[in-house]
Amino acid sequence: MSQHQRLAIVTGGARGLGLAMVHALLDQDVVDRVVVFDLIDDPIDDERITVQRCDVTDTDSVGAAYAAVGEAPQVLVNNAGGDPGSGVGALDHGPFEDPDQFRRMLELNFTTAHVVTSVIGPDLTDGAAICCTASIAGQMASPLFAYGAAKSAMIHWTKSMARVLGPRGIRINAVAPGIIRTFLWEQMEPDIDRYKRNVVSRIPLLSDQTPEDIADAVAFLCSKRARSITGQTLAIDGGMTAGEPIYGSWESATGRAWSSAPTQE
Ligand SMILES: NC(=O)c1ccc[n+]([C@@H]2O[C@H](COP(=O)([O-])OP(=O)(O)OC[C@H]3O[C@@H](n4cnc5c(N)ncnc54)[C@H](O)[C@@H]3O)[C@@H](O)[C@H]2O)c1
Repeated sequence: MSQHQRLAIVTGGARGLGLAMVHALLDQDVVDRVVVFDLIDDPIDDERITVQRCDVTDTDSVGAAYAAVGEAPQVLVNNAGGDPGSGVGALDHGPFEDPDQFRRMLELNFTTAHVVTSVIGPDLTDGAAICCTASIAGQMASPLFAYGAAKSAMIHWTKSMARVLGPRGIRINAVAPGIIRTFLWEQMEPDIDRYKRNVVSRIPLLSDQTPEDIADAVAFLCSKRARSITGQTLAIDGGMTAGEPIYGSWESATGRAWSSAPTQE
């Protein structure tokens, strides 16, 4: 790999949000090449993308994958996460979850960011950027006990790391995706009508998010345009962390029905 090419390493980049991040980083000219660290090591049909089999819960596996890359990246995306147990995408572990499963949730959805950053971080140089995939589940209390706690820890850790890495010219931020119908949500709510009725209707913009929505934010935070931003978590959630949509206020404040809103007059 040429010394002049800008490199990103993206964990969990084989599918879902991570794959969209890989494409956004390349297409928006943030980097020239990407190496994906993932349990899924199917090749991706793009000569700029290399897939390296890696289990981010295993420090030796991360070390071996990084050794195979052979150079420090300018961008590191700690994105791998989800359900470490059943493999069916269930995240709603309850308050009295089996402690071993609870630990595995915390490990995959938080500790791995530390594992990967502790292996690669010491080699990062001035101008490098790290982005972590948290979740709005880390910003709002929900039935996702272990998952939410893990993502909340990631948000806090991102702030602490920003204070350490800042003087070295290295930025670290996080994104908090809202609701995206990737593998995770397909498993959690397979019925699309129930998903729209019970989930999407509670988002102020009345729309769920796409992998590209999240990937655009990651590409921005890792780009030079975000050179003054570090330690932040950006929610891309259609307004969900602000609360549920409020109906009726528009009509009572304006005295007009929505159909007679000014843009439609
Ligand atoms: N989908 C959503 O609605 C949503 C919302 C908020 C946050 N997130 C977060 O976004 C990230 C990506 O989620 P997604 O929806 O794209 O899920 P996904 O299951 O489609 O993709 C996750 C990727 O991570 C990889 N991975 C899992 N465990 C790994 C391990 N131990 N080592 C290496 N790779 C591993 C998987 O193989 C997969 O390619 C996760 O951190 C998730 O918690 C997703």
